[in-house]
Amino acid sequence: MRCAPALGLAMPLALVAAGGVCAEDPGAALFEQHCVVCHQKQGEGAPGLAPRLANNLTEHAKNESGRAYLAQLVVSGMMGPIVSGGEPFNSAMPTFVALSDEEIVAVVGYVLGELNGVPAEQRVTQQDVAAARQRALPPHEVRRMRGK
Ligand code: HEC
Repeated sequence: MRCAPALGLAMPLALVAAGGVCAEDPGAALFEQHCVVCHQKQGEGAPGLAPRLANNLTEHAKNESGRAYLAQLVVSGMMGPIVSGGEPFNSAMPTFVALSDEEIVAVVGYVLGELNGVPAEQRVTQQDVAAARQRALPPHEVRRMRGK
C-alpha cells in the first residue's frame, strides 16, 4: 500500500496542498521537512549543491554494503568529492543523527521506494541504522563506504 497509516506522526497539511506525494506517508513528510531544501522537491538535485536522489540510488540498494552506506550517510552526514549521476559534488551532507531509527528508515524508505522504485526487501532497515550508529563514522570517512 502506498498510503500506510501515519505512525503517530503529525502530518503537515501543507503537504496535501503541495501535492504529488502521499500526505499519509511519514517518510514523505520527513523528506519534505529535512531533505527538499537541498535535494529538491522530486529529488531531482541541484548542480553543485546536492546530487539527484530520484532514479539514482538503485545500485546502492542492491546489496548489503550499499544499504549500509545509505544508512551511514544519513546518520553521519558525508563530506568530500563524489561523482553522482555523472556530476561532480564536493560539498557536505549534514548529519541526521537526531532523527529516530524509525524516522531514518521512513525517510530513506521514501527516497528508495517512491523516488527510485526499489522493492521493500531492498530498503534500509532498523538494523542497518543501528549498525550505522554503532560505527559512528565522521563525515569524511563515510565516502569510503560508497561503492563506485
Ligand atoms: C544541506 C544540504 C543537504 C541536505 C539538507 C540533505 N542533503 Fe543529502 N547530500 C547533500 C550533499 C552536498 C551530498 C553530497 C556530499 C558529498 O559531496 O560528499 C548529499 C548526498 C546524499 C546522498 C548520496 C548520493 C550518492 O550518490 O551517493 C543521499 C542518498 C542523500 N544525500 C540523501 C539525503 C536525505 C535522505 C536527506 C534528508 C534526510 C538529505 N540528503 C538532506 C546535501 C544535503
